[in-house]
Amino acid sequence: MFIVFEGIDGTGKSTQAKLFSEALTRKNIPHVLTREPGGSSAAENIRSLVLQHEFLPITELLLMIAARNEHWNATIQPALQRGEWVICDRYIDSTRAHQGFEAGIDLGLINQLHELLRIPTKSDHVFILMLDIDVALGRARSRAQQDRYDHFDRPYYEKIYNGFQQLAATGKHYHLIDANRSIEDIHQEILSVIF
Ligand code: TMP
Repeated sequence: MFIVFEGIDGTGKSTQAKLFSEALTRKNIPHVLTREPGGSSAAENIRSLVLQHEFLPITELLLMIAARNEHWNATIQPALQRGEWVICDRYIDSTRAHQGFEAGIDLGLINQLHELLRIPTKSDHVFILMLDIDVALGRARSRAQQDRYDHFDRPYYEKIYNGFQQLAATGKHYHLIDANRSIEDIHQEILSVIF
């Protein structure tokens, strides 16, 4: 199983990915909890770069995909081949939402680049956490550790939010989760989809 958590910044997806991982540990299911951009030594280096600098949209896309190529080959694929589950905080739908819907890059090109590199464009399940935009913005901006992505304006978040909503309509592996609820309620809903 390859399971991804997505959503705009501040929705609690990292918290949910961690809770889900803890539930797998209790069930003795071997798994890897990982994240993007990052998740391997080389990809974490690319992450530092993209969080610090503003690049042209196409450069940012190529850096995100370069990081994913490292992450896929070094971490995700080997874990799946060992028979372990992979729980990933963000994956290709973050690229579609940010570089596609927000920055205006063609979604077909994003798919083509992944196909060229033989990186899967689909996981088994994608949980998209949908939280009121103002609440998410407030959370992202009040974090102790800030990065440049936490300082964009509301229209930027709206485009990404709407992008995730449109993506969710394109496949049965997407699960839109109402994140305007308690951490435990959200966790239980996610568990009920998988188990
Ligand atoms: P974070 O939420 O894990 O800190 O991710 C950092 C930012 O990277 C986040 O605002 C979304 C952005 N991002 C993209 O723009 N494209 C991508 O493909 C990924 C994985 C993340």
